[in-house]
Amino acid sequence: MKALVLSGGKGTRLRPLTFTCAKQLIPVANKPVLGYVLDQVAATKIKKVGIITAHETGHFVEEYVADGSAWNMEASYIPQEPLGLAHAVKTARKFLGQDSFVMCLGDNVTGQGLESFVKRFKNEHLDALIILKEVDNPSAFGIAKLDDEGNIIRLVEKPKTSIGSKLAIIGTYLFSNKVHEAIERIKPSWRGELEITDAIQEMINMGFTVKAEILRSWWLDTGKKDDILSANAKILDEYIEADVKGKVVNSTIDGRVQVAPDSQIINSTVRGPCVIGKDVVVENSFIGPYTSIGNGSRVCNSNIEYCVVQECVTITDIERLEDSLIGKNAKVSRNQRCRTIKLHVGDYSELQV
Ligand code: TTP
Repeated sequence: MKALVLSGGKGTRLRPLTFTCAKQLIPVANKPVLGYVLDQVAATKIKKVGIITAHETGHFVEEYVADGSAWNMEASYIPQEPLGLAHAVKTARKFLGQDSFVMCLGDNVTGQGLESFVKRFKNEHLDALIILKEVDNPSAFGIAKLDDEGNIIRLVEKPKTSIGSKLAIIGTYLFSNKVHEAIERIKPSWRGELEITDAIQEMINMGFTVKAEILRSWWLDTGKKDDILSANAKILDEYIEADVKGKVVNSTIDGRVQVAPDSQIINSTVRGPCVIGKDVVVENSFIGPYTSIGNGSRVCNSNIEYCVVQECVTITDIERLEDSLIGKNAKVSRNQRCRTIKLHVGDYSELQV
C-alpha cells in the first residue's frame, strides 16, 4: 500500500501567506500542518509516499519533506495543476501503479491515527473506505448518506437542502486501484475540477464496495485563518507538556509552556498552553494561552493571546493582540507619535484595527 498526500491547491483563502509559502507548511504549535499528516502516515508503516505539489509552492514542500527519511519513508513529488482532488489522483497514476493507497489532505489534521482504517480496508478487501465526521453545517461540505450496513449510497457536494445526513467527507480516503477506472469515467464539475466525490459516486454506480467509517476524534481543516488558530489551540491543548529550556529572568511561567533553548523570557508572564521557539526574546510582555511563537521572533512591551506568530516576527508596544496569524518576518508595532494607523501590508491581507 502507498500513500498520496495532497499538498498542492491554490490556497486562495490564506493569501497573502500562500504567496510565499505552501499553506500545508503553515505551523501549528510551531510545526507545519503537513508534518502532523506525515506523522500519521508514517505510523501505518507505509513506506512510499507521493506528495502532490503546486507549481508555485512545490519547492517549499520539497525543502521541508526532502527525501522523506525524517519519517522513515521514501517521498516522491508529483507536480499538479490544481484541477481537483480526483485530478490529483489521475496525475499520480504512474506513482500509484496497481497499488491501493491512503489519500490525505496535507492541510487537514485529526486526533485519530490512520492505522485502524488501513487494517479494516485490508481485512475487508474494500475498494474504498471514506472517513466521515458529523458536522453542524452540511451545506458547506461533501455529504454522504449511508445505509444501515455503513455502505455509502449517495454523495452530494454542498447540499442546499437536507439529504437526511450530516456526515461530511473529511479528506481521508483509502482506495483500491479501481478508483482509476471511476476517475476515467467522470467529467469536470461546474467549477472545472475533477471532483473526488464524483469519482466515489461513480465507484458506487459501478458496483464496487465503498464503505464509510466515522471519525471518533476531532478534525480540523486549516484552510482559513480561524481554522489555523483552532488547530493551534487543539494541538497545544492535547500535546504540549511543560519544558522550559531557555533562560527565564524575573518572569512567571504558568501552566504547560515550552521554551526552546537559546530563548529568553525577561520581566514577562507566559501562561500555557503555549510554545516558544528557538532564539526568541520576550521582554516586558504577557504571552497568553494558545499562542505559538516561531523561531527568531521578538516580543517587547506587548500582550499576546490566542495567536500564531511565525518565524522572525517583531512585535513591539502592542497593548493587546488576539486571534491573529502573523506571517514570517512581519513587523507589528505601535505608532508612538499620533493615533494614525500606518500600514505596509501585502496583497489580500486582512486587518481589523
Ligand atoms: P482545498 O483547500 O479545497 O483547495 P485549495 O488549496 O485550492 O484552497 P482555496 O480554496 O483556499 O483556494 O484543497 C484541499 C487540499 O487538497 C489542500 O491541501 C490542497 C490540496 N489540493 C491539491 O493538492 N490539488 C488540487 O487540485 C486541489 C483542489 C487541492
